[in-house]
Amino acid sequence: MGKGQQGYAFAMEDDEAIRRAAEIIRRGGPVAFPTETVYGLGADALAPLAVARIFEVKKRPYFDPLILHVANPGDLGQLVTEIPSGAKKLVDRLWPGPLTVVLPKKEVVPDIVTAGLPTVAVRMPRHAIALRLIQLAESPIAAPSANPFGYLSPTTAAHVRDQLGDQVDLILDGGPCPVGVESTILSFVGGKPRLLRPGGVTLEEIEAMIGRVERPPEEADHPQSPGMLPKHYAPRTPIMLDRSEEGYDYSGKRVGWLGLREPGQPHAFQHVEILSGIGDLKEAAANLFAAIRRLDALNLDLIVAEPVPEVGLGRAIMDRLRRASHRVQWDG
Ligand code: TXA
Ligand code: MG
Repeated sequence: MGKGQQGYAFAMEDDEAIRRAAEIIRRGGPVAFPTETVYGLGADALAPLAVARIFEVKKRPYFDPLILHVANPGDLGQLVTEIPSGAKKLVDRLWPGPLTVVLPKKEVVPDIVTAGLPTVAVRMPRHAIALRLIQLAESPIAAPSANPFGYLSPTTAAHVRDQLGDQVDLILDGGPCPVGVESTILSFVGGKPRLLRPGGVTLEEIEAMIGRVERPPEEADHPQSPGMLPKHYAPRTPIMLDRSEEGYDYSGKRVGWLGLREPGQPHAFQHVEILSGIGDLKEAAANLFAAIRRLDALNLDLIVAEPVPEVGLGRAIMDRLRRASHRVQWDG
């Protein structure tokens, strides 16, 4: 066990901490743990009461289904009734990794996990601590991102501690999440593969493997899946997406900048967050949520976010920025 606060496991390579976490999960408790995308709040997926604790801690509405995390690709077959060839191909090539597949569920998956849907979302994370935890728990782990409902996903253990620290018995610390945005969710229900959430695996990579994937309509006012609400991932400070910071008058207001590069008028901003000095979308995704959190902590009047190109990981970044900025208007 690491030093420091009770219930806060610091050591990355500390198998004892992971064992303790697995023990909590076997007894029906929730534990926060790192994945390659974001930190998850996990519980035994096959125990409805344990899963209910997750909803309670996050204040998450019960209509929002959870993702099941497995430690082996072969475990998918125990949770779903069929695996179409496209899904099989992606799982073979991309697991472990930030890809979640939605398929018809088997009876063993409790209704509370799927919000009563006949389908279930499953992924195998690419993170040594997560995989070890699932193995030791001897059950798939249901885990949403470890943040209060509607807020930004945590990408460090400290983010989890700040928001849910008093409600979870143990937070496993694996350092910052290398991918930084949540998994890509693909549904294989009803024939054609359909993108439900852009994420850590790019659409380009997926389409190179299985061909054309249906995309969600541009303005996601109609949730593609329960829980994919137009307003989500939102900080307390209003975020506005805009290309031309010149077009607004911020005088007298405390405004922050979030962009791939320096803003045109740096003096207009109280604080500047640059997601990637070299304009690399992978680096930008890894920095996204922590940068928004830093801006949010400054009690600014507004955060201006520069749109990024919608290719590769830029799709996931823009999806999160759109939801974080949903319906924010600025009168200048
Ligand atoms: O990267 C990730 O996916 C992270 C880490 C912890 O694994 N998890 C995550 O979980 O982002 P969460 O709960 O924040 O988002 C899961 C979303 C739900 O909001 C819902 O939209 C979708 O997955 N989902 C889950 N089950 C579904 C189903 N049966 N059909 C359609 N969508 C589903
Ligand atoms: Mg979430």
